[in-house]
Formats: sequence, C-alpha cells, structure tokens
Amino acid sequence: MKIAVVPGDGIGKEVVPAALLVLDALGLDIEKVPLEIGYSKWKQTGNAITDDDIKTIKECDCVLFGAITTPPDPNYKSVLVRLRKELDLYANIRPFKPLINVKLPCSGKFDFVIVRENTEGMYSGVEELHEDAAYTTRIVTRKGSERIAERACALAKKRKEHLTIVHKANVLKSDSFFRDVCTGVAKKNNISYNEKLVDAMAYDMILNPGKYDVIVTTNLFGDILSDEAAAIAGGLGLCPSANIGDRYALFEPIHGSAPDIAGTGNANPIAAILSVSMMLDWAGNTEMARSIDKAVDSVLASHITTPDLGGSYSTHYVGEAIAHLV
Ligand code: NAI
Ligand code: MG
Repeated sequence: MKIAVVPGDGIGKEVVPAALLVLDALGLDIEKVPLEIGYSKWKQTGNAITDDDIKTIKECDCVLFGAITTPPDPNYKSVLVRLRKELDLYANIRPFKPLINVKLPCSGKFDFVIVRENTEGMYSGVEELHEDAAYTTRIVTRKGSERIAERACALAKKRKEHLTIVHKANVLKSDSFFRDVCTGVAKKNNISYNEKLVDAMAYDMILNPGKYDVIVTTNLFGDILSDEAAAIAGGLGLCPSANIGDRYALFEPIHGSAPDIAGTGNANPIAAILSVSMMLDWAGNTEMARSIDKAVDSVLASHITTPDLGGSYSTHYVGEAIAHLV
C-alpha cells in the first residue's frame, strides 16, 4: 500500500509523527509519501496545495492527514474541501464511543457513528462574495444523497440495522429531498429508520447518546454534530475519522491544527492514531487495526495521557507507549 502523509500545520505536525510511530511499529509493507500542504506552504508560495500535490496524492492509495490552519484570506478555498471533491471522498465516517478512563460530560453508554455527506450541501463551493451580500448555494443531488444513504445502510447492516436520518426538512426543500432519498434507500435495504430534525438532534444527542447507532446527515450538519459528539466522547483529541470514496480514502483526526497548544507537545495523538486504525480497517487489515485499538485501551488504562485527559505526558511519549504495545 502507498500512502500520502500530510501532517499539515500546528499540532498536525505533532500528532501525525506520533501516529507514524504506531504504524511503523506494525512492520507492514507500506510506502509513505510525505507531502507539505497547508498554511506554511500558503505563506511561502501563496498556494496551500498545488495540482502536482493532487497528482501525487492520486498516485497513492490513501492519505493520512493531520490538520490545516485556515489562512486569513477571504478568497482562500479549503484544502480539505478541495481534496474531498477531487478524490470524490463522499462519505465522512465518524465513530464515537467512550474510551477507558476518559471522563465524560454526560452519563450513559453510547456507541454511534455519524455518516456525513462530504462533497456537497453547504460545502458545495458555489459561492459569491459581493460588497453588500454573500451567497452560498446549498446543493443536494439524488446521486450524492443515494450514495451516502447506501454507505450508511451498509454500515447499519453490520451494526443494529437501524438508521437515524438527520435533516431540517421542515424548513429546507433541499433537506426534504435528502430525507426522501434516504428513506427510499433505507426501505430498499430493509433497514429500519427514524428521522430527527437537526436542532432536536443536537439537544437529544447530549441527553440520550445511547439511543443512536448509525446517523446519516448532510455536510454542514454532520460537521457540527460531530464536534458536539466529540465533546460527548470526552474531547476532540480522541476522535478519528475516515473520508471514503469508491477509489481513494483519507484518514484524519476530526480536530483542527489547535494553534493554542501547537508546539507545546501537549496535543493528544489518540485521534490521529485511531485514524490509522480506521485506515487499516479500510485496507482490510482488521487484525492490525484491532491491535492498535487494544494498545490505545491499554495505555489509557495505565493513565499514560496528555494534559487534555488530566495526564502530564507528551504527544511523542503517548505515541511511543502505544507503538510499544501493538
Ligand atoms: P481545533 O480543533 O484546532 O481546536 C479546538 C480546541 O480543541 C482547542 O482548544 C484545541 O487546543 C483543542 N484540541 C484540538 N485537538 C486537540 C488534541 N489533539 N489534543 C488536545 N486538545 C486538542 O479547532 P479550532 O481552534 O476551531 O481551529 C484551529 C484551526 O484549525 C483553524 O485554522 C481551523 O480552520 C482549522 N481546522 C482544520 C481542520 C482540518 O484541517 N481538518 C478541522 C477543524 C479546524
Ligand atoms: Mg469540523
């Protein structure tokens, strides 16, 4: 397997090397292609990502990604949004469950996955910035909705065979369209479903996270709900994600570049390390993926944690401790 490695900016440059310690410790036959993409590159060249970078990435099977700082430029177009579109990574899969010894803000057991449409919706990229107004076109297509609903149903089949469709169909026509396509796909797949308006979902997810299993939603709602879910699961530093298409995939922690803690060595590398586990699952190497998950559990059980979890260990130390156990 050939992977493009994009640490990006801020803590991306710290958590990705820690995740590579774990990947390297597995001794797999993997070729890594390092790529400098992001704010640092934008400052030097005026371009955060080039066509050549995209070409190099397309020569790899998948990408391990850290995080990118958004440059202070109103005309800047998000690198991740571009990558998700260029590689057609239409499914953003974000699992949430409690990890050992992690203090949670809400009580109760939960284990759910947010399946977020990743290439259209509010992040269509169709925007106009004028003197006195700005417009973003929210695009929801049948093809885009069908394929994300199919992905969610395929996942539901491996879990509790139930789907929660989250939308704002009471106000947005584009969302009643999305809802109708999703219910059709769920019926076709014999998957039971319920619907939830996104605002009510934001409320209920905090009170009753254990009620949910597979949640499917549009791009912006999935983005927001998954940061909320990260808070429910004990912090952004713990939550991995996979961006999956039919040909390529990109794996990344759901957090950003965290400029407030960048350079301190305090960033939690677990989200990035669990993103490597998701990458190995995607590649069919479930045995190695479970070995990473177990090593993460053991290190958390031993209270070897970064300051966000109350510990005093560094990003590198936690990465090494996990690498040692895989
Ligand atoms: P953020 O996720 O970088 O940070 C939010 C808060 O969580 C901060 O207090 C940070 O210290 C903490 N945090 C995040 N990851 C952590 C970790 N691994 N360990 C311990 N604490 C952690 O979000 P923020 O501050 O809104 O964005 C910072 C920059 O990152 C912005 O330029 C934003 O545009 C960019 N960003 C990039 C993303 C990406 O590349 N995928 C995603 C989200 C934001
Ligand atoms: Mg986000």
